[in-house]
Amino acid sequence: MNAPLKNDLYLRALKREAVERTPVWVMRQAGRYLPEYKRVRAQAGNFMNLCSNPELACEVTLQPIDRFNLDAAILFSDILTIPDAMGLDLTFETGEGPRFGKPIKNRADVDALPIPDPNDSLKYVMDAVSTIRRELDGRVPLIGFSGSPWTLATYMVEAGGSKDFSKVKGLLFSDPATLHVLLEKNAQAVISYLNAQVEAGAQALMVFDTWGGVLSPTNYQEFSLAYMQQIVDGVTRHAEGRDVPVTLFTKNGGQWLDLMAKTGCDGLGVDWTINLADARLRAGDSVALQGNLDPSVLYGSPESIRVEVKKVLDSYGDAPGHVFNLGHGIHQYVNPEHLTVMVEAVRELSAR
Ligand code: CP3
Repeated sequence: MNAPLKNDLYLRALKREAVERTPVWVMRQAGRYLPEYKRVRAQAGNFMNLCSNPELACEVTLQPIDRFNLDAAILFSDILTIPDAMGLDLTFETGEGPRFGKPIKNRADVDALPIPDPNDSLKYVMDAVSTIRRELDGRVPLIGFSGSPWTLATYMVEAGGSKDFSKVKGLLFSDPATLHVLLEKNAQAVISYLNAQVEAGAQALMVFDTWGGVLSPTNYQEFSLAYMQQIVDGVTRHAEGRDVPVTLFTKNGGQWLDLMAKTGCDGLGVDWTINLADARLRAGDSVALQGNLDPSVLYGSPESIRVEVKKVLDSYGDAPGHVFNLGHGIHQYVNPEHLTVMVEAVRELSAR
């Protein structure tokens, strides 16, 4: 049996309940800006070894919780574990980002893709989830996550990161039917992966659609949002006697917050290119909002960080339903003490 939650601010804010202060966590909160992370990463040898070792994955998940006293933990893993389990052969070369040895090139590759059993080829992720839940001992809720079907497809077709998305967009415009088959498979894989995470102990879910914002409005709806809708409809929304809130995050998706809210999700991640007051007007009142400090603010002085935190809190205002976060992942070269300044400013300035 897992321990009862001592701090449920994050879960309550996502249900738009009144809270004593605004909960705060940080996308990519475990990572290379932390010296203690770099030590464990070196011990593991490479990034995938770190992800696939439940004890080490648990250790790095808890590092930012211990250091900053954040209000939520996020599973230490990566969105690319699914395509790796599909057989695309993922590696991370130092300084180069992810690469797939067997990317998707044509319809035959898509047809041959298996939908992984999360309790088999992705069991190491579920073991990490249950280990983290045990070690958290109820301190804060644990967020499980995946990539969106579209964002996964960009990496699977481009064979890694991309600047112009020429291959995946080439496929979108020349052979949309094949892309739809791929997205359908990704959606099914994501749904069973997220449900297995909830079964293993994840208490909230987040879908990272890092690259939805490179699509035109109609293509965003057809190739990204439609598949996130399947996920919202298909994932477990209640476990251990509580709701399991689902947050969707499309980077550069500020103009589509109304459409995203209509999926029936609980929260929307918002990047820093839209003011939270405008985001609220656009999203309506059915969802909580998460965000949206520009991650580069953390390169500034402690005084400027406090000023910028206050601007974000003020732009949201007093209504319930705000989860403080950066508008995207924390940068690698940020001074961790600047994150302490940010977290303390949120706690102090949002106290009701
Ligand atoms: O938020 C957290 O702390 C949980 C862990 C997490 C990681 N990746 C760890 C990681 C999460 C939630 C992700 C999500 C992820 N991964 C996304 C979506 C969110 C976003 O940032 O847009 C994407 C697009 C990926 C794919 C990915 N993984 C890339 C492009 C890279 C290379 C990045 C780089 O700067 O080199 C990774 C590797 C990765 N994932 C690292 C970490 C801590 C760094 C790898 C290392 O330690 O060498």
